[in-house]
Formats: sequence, C-alpha cells, structure tokens
Amino acid sequence: MKLNLLLAGLLTSAAFAAAAMTTTASAVELHFVSGATGDDLAFYAEMFKKYTEKTGDTVTVVPMPSSTTDQFAQYKLWLAAGNSDIDVYQTDVIWAPQLADQFLDLTDAAKDVVKDHFPSIIQSQTVNGKLVALPAFTDAPALYYRKDLLEKYKQPVPKTWEEMAASAKIVQDGERAAGNKDIWGFVFQGNAYEGLTCDALEWVKSAGGGQIVEPDGTISINNPKAAAALELIKTWVNTISPPGVLAYQEEESRGVWQTGNAVFMRNWPYAYSLGNGADSKVKGLFDVTTLPDGGGGSAATLGGWNVAVSKYSKNPDAATKLAMWIASAEFQKERAVKRSNLPTIVALYDDADVAKAQPIIPQWKNVFLNAVPRPSAPTKVKYNEVSSDFWSAVHDTLSGNGSAADNLEALEAKLTELKGAGW
Ligand code: GLC
Repeated sequence: MKLNLLLAGLLTSAAFAAAAMTTTASAVELHFVSGATGDDLAFYAEMFKKYTEKTGDTVTVVPMPSSTTDQFAQYKLWLAAGNSDIDVYQTDVIWAPQLADQFLDLTDAAKDVVKDHFPSIIQSQTVNGKLVALPAFTDAPALYYRKDLLEKYKQPVPKTWEEMAASAKIVQDGERAAGNKDIWGFVFQGNAYEGLTCDALEWVKSAGGGQIVEPDGTISINNPKAAAALELIKTWVNTISPPGVLAYQEEESRGVWQTGNAVFMRNWPYAYSLGNGADSKVKGLFDVTTLPDGGGGSAATLGGWNVAVSKYSKNPDAATKLAMWIASAEFQKERAVKRSNLPTIVALYDDADVAKAQPIIPQWKNVFLNAVPRPSAPTKVKYNEVSSDFWSAVHDTLSGNGSAADNLEALEAKLTELKGAGW
C-alpha cells in the first residue's frame, strides 16, 4: 500500500495549513494506522489537528480495511518487512501476544498513567512483563432493538435468544404484511472472519458451552451445548436473518439496521452514536440491552483497541508521545462523546459530559467488566489460527456445510494438533 496515495482526503486542508504554521525544525511527521470497526477519519483529522497545534508534530492517518482479520494480515506483512514508514499502530485487544516482539515496551513511558486504566486491560496488553500497547478504547457488544416496533407489536425486550427470535419473527411477519418488504428480524456478523469468532463465542458461552479454549488451555469447544447453539443460529439464516448475513461484517449489519430494515442487531457500541446521527433512519427509535441468555447466562465478547509503537519507527520518542496522547483521558473523552467508544480510563465512566452525550457508556461499564475474553492469552502466538479454525467451523455450519457436531469434532482435532505443536 502506498502511503502517499492514502494521504489525500484524510486531513482537511485546514489541518494541513495548521500543521504548516506550527511546524518547527524539530517537528516530526508521524504515520498512524487505524482501522477499528467504524473508525472515522474526520474524527482523527480533527484530533490530530489539535495534536499538531500542541506539539508541532504532524500525523498522517493510514486507513485500514475495517475487517480486523485483513488488518492483522497487513500489519504482519509490514512488521515482518521492518517497515519504518509506520510509527504507531492501532491494535486489536487479541493481538498483543502475537505481535509483542515487534513493538516497543511502553512500561516506562506510561508508568504514571497505567493506574488510571482498568487493570484487566493493562494486563491484556502486557506480555512477559512488557507493556506492548496502551489502551485506546474497550468494546463489549449490545443487542440493539427497535423500541417503536417492539411497542407496536407488544413484544418485550428479550431476555433469551428464544424470546429474541420469536419477537423478531412476529415483527418481521407483521411489517412485511403491512408492506415493509425489506425488514428482517435480526442482523449480526456472519462473515468468515474474526467478527464471527466474537458472535459465535457469545452464542456458545451463553448456552453454557464454554469459551472454545478455556483460560487453562483446555480445548472445550466440542460439546453438545455448543453444537446445539450453532444449530439454533443456523435456523435463523434466511428466516429471521437475511441470507446475506453470512457475508456481513459490523458495517454491513449497521447498514441494514440504520436504514430501518432490522428489528434487532448485535453490534459494538460505536453503532450507538452513528445510529443516532442526523442521517440515520433509526435516530431516537432504538435502545440497547445486554445480549440474550441461551441457558448459561448472557455473554458478551471482550473487544477493544490499543496503540503500539513500532520498533522500526525512526522517531520512537515522538511516536511514544503520540501513543500516550491517543490513550490519554482527553482523547478518550472525545472518542467517548463523539464516537460512543467505551473508555479504558475508569474515571470517564463518572464523567457527566460522557453520560449525557452517550448514555450507553455508563450503562455498559458492567457489561464490559464481565465480558468474555477470546482465548488469545492461552493460545498465544497461535491465536489467529485457532480463531480462524473456529470461525470456519461456525461458518460451515451456518452455511449448511456439515452438522455442528461434525464440524466441532473436526475443529477439536485441529486445535489439538495446534496445541501439540506448542502454543
Ligand atoms: C471490534 C472489536 C475487536 C474485534 C472486532 C471483530 O472492532 O473491538 O476486538 O476483534 O470487532 O470484528
């Protein structure tokens, strides 16, 4: 990917002008890659303009595809090649063990601020005592629902997946009969990628089927509760969920939802501010609740994004300063207020401006604190393969390619082999 090609349109001309005015002899040009789901380049342009005004350093954003799986592949290529063009990487919460060797240790730089963040998040970014990345925001999904439609059809806010599916069908049938032909009951992330690992972990865990690989390394996924959960979801494809859901990532789900064509959606908090945006057809018509219980309790997968400094950066000090700023309370507050991303700084959950702008944030503190981690800690450098084997087994099942029981049995064999080779 050519960086200069990506420059155009990312920063407004005003940002360039401001950068030019404040640039001093010691100012550096930094490159930051970003791609967290729903990332907004206009937001970064505004924030990095402020940064230039403060420090003189300029920041160019290198946008990434919104699929975390595609980003990971790109990052691996750049890092393996020792690319010195990128200074700061935005990293998914699951990547720390896999990319730890390529990033600088931020322990010293962050020693005065780590105490402000939730310890569990700092822990997730610490590999063998090295602080690989600083937390930028955390993530835990919600069940988005249309208040107006549930009221119209006298349906309760669902507590279980079965209730959700039943209400989805009643509303979908009623609306279609009334001429609203494009409406669907439930949209989620069914594409074969990391997002499906997140959704399917929630289905399996909420059914009492474990968390794929348990924190102690036990491979638990091949069990009847997990298989039953996947078989249930399969019955939704092309009934309450569009057939195309098997190709949806977060943004495709949000597209259907935000044009008013879904009763329920599983998505991360970023979709909250966008759903209430001026151009959204569902503005003011929806609310959020915790994901439904499948017999084993509600389960939300822990997500989130961090900032790491490349060990190949030519300006490690300036890059570290930038990473510190992206993780700071000032930046996180703006992200919370404007983008409804969940802060990793404890105090921001009691901030009145945040609560007023995005009520989901204080409401979601406990959801995120109880969220289920994907098994990246126990499977370490093999996590990506483990996840890809898992999402493939799930995608095959939902596509009618083999039964859940058979696919999970084959998955167990693959994971056992990976574990045997050392993870
Ligand atoms: C969100 C989460 C991230 C996850 C991704 C999957 O961006 O924050 O952790 O991997 O979705 O699509």
